[in-house]
Amino acid sequence: MSVIQWDKKLIDKYNINGPRYTSYPTALMLSDQFDRGRIDHALQAAGDELCLYLHLPFCHKLCYYCGCNKVITRHQHKADKYLDYLAKEMAMYQPLVADKRIRQIHLGGGTPTFLTEQQLTRLMALVHQHFRFVDNAEVSIEIDPRSCSDEKLRHLRTLGFNRVSYGVQDFDTKVQIAINRVQDVDLIRHQLKLSKALGFESINLDLIYGLPYQQPETFKKSIEQVIEMDPDRISVFSYAHLPQRFAGQRKIPEESIPRPSVKLSLLEQAITQLSEAGYQFIGMDHFAKANDGLAIAQREGRLQRNFQGYTTDGQDALLGLGVSSISQVNGVLWQHEKELPAYYKMIDSGQRPIIKGMALNDEDKLRAALISQVICHFELDIEAFKAQWQLDDFWAHFAEAIPLLKPFIEDGLVDVSDKKLRVTDLGRLWVRSICACFDEYLDHGQNRYSKVV
Ligand SMILES: C[S@@+](CC[C@H](N)C(=O)[O-])C[C@H]1O[C@@H](n2cnc3c(N)ncnc32)[C@H](O)[C@@H]1O
Ligand code: SF4
Repeated sequence: MSVIQWDKKLIDKYNINGPRYTSYPTALMLSDQFDRGRIDHALQAAGDELCLYLHLPFCHKLCYYCGCNKVITRHQHKADKYLDYLAKEMAMYQPLVADKRIRQIHLGGGTPTFLTEQQLTRLMALVHQHFRFVDNAEVSIEIDPRSCSDEKLRHLRTLGFNRVSYGVQDFDTKVQIAINRVQDVDLIRHQLKLSKALGFESINLDLIYGLPYQQPETFKKSIEQVIEMDPDRISVFSYAHLPQRFAGQRKIPEESIPRPSVKLSLLEQAITQLSEAGYQFIGMDHFAKANDGLAIAQREGRLQRNFQGYTTDGQDALLGLGVSSISQVNGVLWQHEKELPAYYKMIDSGQRPIIKGMALNDEDKLRAALISQVICHFELDIEAFKAQWQLDDFWAHFAEAIPLLKPFIEDGLVDVSDKKLRVTDLGRLWVRSICACFDEYLDHGQNRYSKVV
């Protein structure tokens, strides 16, 4: 695919709040009026293999921009208690998946490397006690560079981790101070080098654009530094500023946040530099080297999207464990309690900590497949889709999308015919908004989503 095209005029028109479509329907549609029995059935009826996500919520220090579900604490023993409960939770799910094998496991957070080496050893022993793995499973972990010594990194490798993802965000000192996350570029350079030497198969770095005081010139330098470090994948997230939801973000002065047009320049900068350095723009916020699994999956038409973003696997076979985790298995979505005390209480009462969920109906599944195809591959073969989903008339079925798509078509962001829907190079930045034309539920809670770019 060619490098994206830019048109700043479009920002006023299309930079609305919208879902990131890590699932369809989105997590906002989950309801507490939901039959938990559907989960048991979905898990038992799932295929032979599953992906596992474990949420580790603890962090030592608050980053002001953070929109993740996290608990800031200095008390290391809190993780011991959490692992006790995670063990109970694993025991509750285990009988439902006893005949399955895990092909991918991802530890996210919060900060999984908040755990000591001893706690990490215990966690992985619990995982292996409760679940069986395929040979060569992908075992990945999110790392806050400030909480990972060389010894801990070596230890992760001996525990079987083969993929790492580092939180970087930006290297500029003024930005780092404003977000309360000061970390030295040399530390990250060193950790990447060591990760490579230790044989981690895939290394990802997270950046954010739209942070306070970011300027195209300074961000350019950060990206140059990242390129020099030569990671396999780079995430460049759009800063989701929702201060009414995340109290820490209220510490960021509004006037320090780049205007939408500057924010778009930051993204433009990142896409241009990374593309020139040989990274494939996967979509929205992901870049990968041409020989990385994500880029190969996209070229081969089998890229997927799940709660972690673009992925090679686990779109409808992802079991999430831990506080706030979301699962999607076999057309059923469910979420765990988000607050630790309530999460502990539910497990103490012998229940799985499920607070809400949703079973997709046939129409949801059809739309989920369409949105996934468009957001992952920017193109939909309408004839093939009709045949797969037994639709007589595609555009009659999606009649309500036609007026919504019209402005995108007129502005050259989408090409549409009876045979194909194609997001143009110019339209790729707005793919979330284009997908939203096919979202039956979009009226619900639009202002709880972040801006598209
Ligand atoms: C769980 S953290 C990664 C691991 C570790 N806690 C760390 O920060 O290094 C996940 C990533 O989400 C991104 N993130 C967090 N809050 C965000 C926000 N408000 N907008 C956009 N991206 C955000 C950051 O890039 C961060 O690295
Ligand atoms: S960005 Fe990472 S380290 Fe910072 S508060 Fe959020 S989860 Fe914790």
